[in-house]
Amino acid sequence: MERLLAHLTRAVATGAVVLIGIVAASSVRAAPAAASPTADFQCYPSSSCVVYPGNPITLYASSNAAQPDYEWDLNNDGAYGDQSGSSVNQTFTNAGIYPISLRVTDIATKQSAVVTHNVTVPLTPSFTCSATPSCNAVPVGSAVEVDATSDSPSASYSWDFNSDGVPDATGAHATYTYTQPGQHGITVSVTDSAGQASSATVLVTVEAADALHASIACSPSCDVPAGTDVTLTASSDGHAPNYGWNYGTDFTGSGPTAYRSVGPAWLQRFDTPGRYVIVLRATDNGQTIEVSQAVTVSAFNQPLPIPRVLSPGKLSPADRARCDLQRNRFLRDNCLTAARQTLVIHMRQAEVQLLPGQKTRMWTFDGTFPGPTIRAQSGQTLKVRYVNDLPQAAGPMTIHLHGDHHPSADDGQPDDNLIYPGGDRTYTYPLTEDGQPERSAFRWYHDHRMGESGRDVWNGLAGMFILDDHVDSSLHLPSGNRDVPLMVTDRRFSPGNQLDYSPGARPPVDGAIGDHVLVNGTYRPFHDVSMGLYRLRLLNASNWCAYNFQLVDQHQQVVPFSQIGSDGGLIPRRTDRDTILLGPAERADVLVDFRHFGDDVYLKGVPQIGGSGTPACQATDDSGNPGPIMVFRVTGNGDPYPALPNGLRPLPSWTDAVWNSGDKIRANHTFQLALGSDARGAHWTIDGRMYDPRRVDTTVRLGATTYWNFVNDSPVTHYMHVHDDACVGGGSSFSRLAVADRALKDTFRVDPHTTIRIACRFADYLGIYMIHCHMLEHEDNAMMAQFLVVPRLASARQIRLDISRVSQGATRRLHSVLRLSRSGDSWARVKHDLWLLCHLAA
Ligand code: C2O
Ligand code: CU
Ligand code: CU
Repeated sequence: MERLLAHLTRAVATGAVVLIGIVAASSVRAAPAAASPTADFQCYPSSSCVVYPGNPITLYASSNAAQPDYEWDLNNDGAYGDQSGSSVNQTFTNAGIYPISLRVTDIATKQSAVVTHNVTVPLTPSFTCSATPSCNAVPVGSAVEVDATSDSPSASYSWDFNSDGVPDATGAHATYTYTQPGQHGITVSVTDSAGQASSATVLVTVEAADALHASIACSPSCDVPAGTDVTLTASSDGHAPNYGWNYGTDFTGSGPTAYRSVGPAWLQRFDTPGRYVIVLRATDNGQTIEVSQAVTVSAFNQPLPIPRVLSPGKLSPADRARCDLQRNRFLRDNCLTAARQTLVIHMRQAEVQLLPGQKTRMWTFDGTFPGPTIRAQSGQTLKVRYVNDLPQAAGPMTIHLHGDHHPSADDGQPDDNLIYPGGDRTYTYPLTEDGQPERSAFRWYHDHRMGESGRDVWNGLAGMFILDDHVDSSLHLPSGNRDVPLMVTDRRFSPGNQLDYSPGARPPVDGAIGDHVLVNGTYRPFHDVSMGLYRLRLLNASNWCAYNFQLVDQHQQVVPFSQIGSDGGLIPRRTDRDTILLGPAERADVLVDFRHFGDDVYLKGVPQIGGSGTPACQATDDSGNPGPIMVFRVTGNGDPYPALPNGLRPLPSWTDAVWNSGDKIRANHTFQLALGSDARGAHWTIDGRMYDPRRVDTTVRLGATTYWNFVNDSPVTHYMHVHDDACVGGGSSFSRLAVADRALKDTFRVDPHTTIRIACRFADYLGIYMIHCHMLEHEDNAMMAQFLVVPRLASARQIRLDISRVSQGATRRLHSVLRLSRSGDSWARVKHDLWLLCHLAA
């Protein structure tokens, strides 16, 4: 063993030497005497050198010179003194076309070469239209004013107000007066001094000068649960208007007697769920108009199911029944003991009540959706045996405990350690980190089969997981039925209430998006709460959709979330938020005080304000109108509760250095997220490559703080998930990240054309772990990579210690990965020796 360790240490050293050797050898080959070196550079993240104003672009030089010296002309003045080095960063604030030149001089031969590429900063015009009362209703003869802006100070503008292709005005500001009612398009054309041109169009509606307008307002809302009284109020610009109201199909319109009600307000109680089109007829001064407004009445007639809790030490009824089948008392007791220590969950097909009416056939954990909630005490090893009783055609499964820290072999590897139909596998979760109990957290478990995770999770293979510890319980947070786990998932249904998994055909449009948003597997449930403080654990377990959650009472008053936890457990301080955006797999632990608001508090998925990413999905009702996801019905009297601590739990101390000096530290790896394509069509890539379970994409050192960048050069937002350990970060800078956002997280939003930085620390386990987009169709379409946790190289003793912690399953996997990736690159030797060591240690 000692000899082998020495060999390894040497191998690591030779690995480095070999690397240098290769570089030296190839450069000698590539530099024949007196020939000019090659010179080129590439733009990053946009390979086509297009960058929006204010965003950084990096230029990477390349050359075959033996001793290249790089000099840049960044301002097109012909002087190569602006910067030197093989890469430079530039940011442009104005639109334009910027020639960038690079001169490469080979110091060895004194030969040089130059290359020029243009960086294009696109011209993006936008304009506003204003008119009284609005550009949607401009009276004939009154002026429309338009103002255009663009990112170029040298831009010139011309306007076409009547779509005849002939400019009607020039300049950034213009006015126009229409003489004919109707819809008209206004187009602005922008040209800058670099010759870039672009245009934008909006529509205006011009009306007869004295047109009558009317509108309907609903109170408390146009979207209400059955049994709600709704007041509809008319308003119009008439002098002395008369109003008549109706709804449904029996509006005869023949006169006031046919109306259900007359006057400016109408109170109607809707008892039957459905969509009602309310018609208002306004008459004034000989003009009559009708306007309509839909009122959606939803059921909320299903109670929120709280999934059964499975904890080690407690027997499930199914296990008891199974053990009771043993006639022999000794065998029966053995069965019970084993069942108490190991949770057993059967994956099986079952009919589940998701929607009112017909049940839905699903692939479930133990017959329900969500599966049972596993609740365990930190620091005590947990074993879960999953049995695959699914139909043969479902194929093998592999279960991942998302957010937990455990050996690689128990991580739910997508293509290894699979649970074949009829088979089972026991996963071991030590629930410790660095010799300490893990931090309390809200997690979940789900299938992770390669290429099939989207289908399998959609079909029902997901459940929640709550990890408790003494710090959490010492805070006296709401518990028992005041601690409510909420798994939000959207699903699409075919007639007969069956699941319809139809993701988009090809990236970038490949997501599976539901038309019903379910909470704990139920469409629009209600949950009765008392007037007190509740802990809600929110999980977005949807395949593709992000939701921007908000609580609103029946008076449209926002009920704040007081956030206490994130993906990785409690955060340092409570933070009040009006909305919480959760992408796929993200969690938020919140306190909600139901004492100060109305009787009905709705959970909604509302549009995001601002942000440059893919917009959040919205919850809609059967007819496609926005609607609440669920309702909390507040009953009873206010109850007192102890004041809550503001300080919850400090972040681990390794993060201090991240906030203080992380911005100065170069990333250990930058993951480039992009859209790729090959003969089979489009797919997602990380670093230009599709996922390959036999390839290691980057290595990290056990116990070291690892800095990673994610650069999104694709057109949509991605939610990147890191296995093995929680991380911090998520913004473009650590020091500037809002204190409220400094939390342990395992899933991070990466908007298009942005770079985020994260820092992670991988403790305890060597081996292979995944990193992937948690939009499950992106993951299935190859947006996944693998990192290998390798030993600290501190000392032979340390290496041996690290290696000794590799479990046997992980060794096997490491074995297969390392053997297959021996391709002669410099790491291969190191990895091979690592494998040898692992093999001996196992
Ligand atoms: Cu929740 Cu790798 O996944
Ligand atoms: Cu995970
Ligand atoms: Cu993605």
